Amino acid sequence: MTYLATSAAHWPGTVLVLIAGLALGLLLAGPLLRRTFPVAWWLLLGFPVACVQVARTWRPLMAGCGLAVSRKAALVVVSGLVGKGAPPPQPRVPRRGVMHPTAGGFWFLVRLLPGQVPEAFAKAAPAMAENWQVHAVRVTSHRPGIVRVVASTADPLREPRISRQRGSGRLLRVVVGALETGAQWVIDLRQVPHWLIVGATRSGKSTLINALVAGLAPQPVALVGIDCKGGMELSLYGPRLSALATDRRQAVKLLAALVELTLDRMAVCRKAHVRNIWGLPDADQPVPVVVIVDEIAELFLIANRGEKDEAQAAGTALIRLAQLGAALGVFLIVAGQRVGSDLGPGVTALRAQLGGRVCHRVADPGTAEMALGDLNPDAIKAAQAIAPEQAGTAVLASGDGWERARSHLVSEAQAEATAVEYAHLTPFLPELADVLGGPSAGLTVRLERLDRDSRTSNDDHDHDS
Ligand SMILES: Nc1ncnc2c1ncn2[C@@H]1O[C@H](COP(=O)(O)OP(=O)(O)O)[C@@H](O)[C@H]1O
Ligand SMILES: [Mg+2]
Repeated sequence: MTYLATSAAHWPGTVLVLIAGLALGLLLAGPLLRRTFPVAWWLLLGFPVACVQVARTWRPLMAGCGLAVSRKAALVVVSGLVGKGAPPPQPRVPRRGVMHPTAGGFWFLVRLLPGQVPEAFAKAAPAMAENWQVHAVRVTSHRPGIVRVVASTADPLREPRISRQRGSGRLLRVVVGALETGAQWVIDLRQVPHWLIVGATRSGKSTLINALVAGLAPQPVALVGIDCKGGMELSLYGPRLSALATDRRQAVKLLAALVELTLDRMAVCRKAHVRNIWGLPDADQPVPVVVIVDEIAELFLIANRGEKDEAQAAGTALIRLAQLGAALGVFLIVAGQRVGSDLGPGVTALRAQLGGRVCHRVADPGTAEMALGDLNPDAIKAAQAIAPEQAGTAVLASGDGWERARSHLVSEAQAEATAVEYAHLTPFLPELADVLGGPSAGLTVRLERLDRDSRTSNDDHDHDS
């Protein structure tokens, strides 16, 4: 009995010592733990604190930003009479949904009050970031009447933690970097077939293309390069390219051959009564072709009349490819420093066809506007805020909104090594190769032959391995 009593008396002390020890341990090991397990740290400690912070500041914040709506005057009077001196009811604030943690922040939904618009909330985002002491808050409209508030505690793009894709992954889908939300930045050509990538010199365009090529190289796809700066950029991938045009004359021929190839595929699909190549039986599916154009301006800029026809032909062919290609397995990745209407009317028409937009740091606001403006006018500011030392950071825009992202740093040497490693997977497209071979090489591309060739070459390798 005595023994029990003493041990019970010691209990609170032991617990206190344990808690104090734990707290001290956390305090000492905290910075290290936080650095080594940032996500666990955030979920266990940071996020609960943030929840309290948001709950505490929500009402004053909404009132301060003019997002609270006062009750009807009559109600205030009635409550004054009934409540006999009790404080009048507080203004209504928009209702907040449950807070959800993400790897580097949190998000929740907010139901707008009558008469409120999402833009008013977007304006309050900087105030929210200040109040909650987070890196940034983004407000996007979620559904009519509901906005989504997304907060990130630190700039997740400073040191993106998403690891690079291993292996080939799903066909035409590549993890090229990390999004601001901490999620993977995926370029899926079957979802968004054509891309426009802009950015000033050394802003990260080639690095993004490296990441994309590194991801596509292990897949059964044909890569075709158009690099009119003499092939300086794209020749890195030489062993894995089915064709490479290094000046505008070659580019025009190559593009014409690609248009022919696309038209042939169209005929095949029509005959089979399917709307795209994915509707064809597996055995008949032609190999997807990804066309990479580095520095689009080189195709469009003209110095004299003679070049005008070439430039026009290149532009027309690219637009055709963009219009027809998605269904027929031809995809466009177009990169450029400046994409302005001064490059000719073709550029604007082409841009309209390139649904995926990536805007790195740009030298002039005009290019950001060309890349993002028609989809998301408010994304332009974000693009202009990218600093030179954040190379690889970009703003992505699509029909549903915009977000910041950063590509994986894939160096030229790594890209080159990948191209060599997967050179054996390069489909042989004889017609494209012929085009670049002789000046008058046959431009007709026959789908059946082309695809049989590419498939057999793949099969051979399967047997090899
Ligand atoms: N995602 C990235 N992460 C870190 N550094 C990058 C990233 N992208 C680019 N850089 C840096 O910027 C440099 C220039 O990038 P690059 O892709 O060659 O630009 P561009 O093709 O637009 O001229 C690279 O050599 C690299 O040092
Ligand atoms: Mg480059």
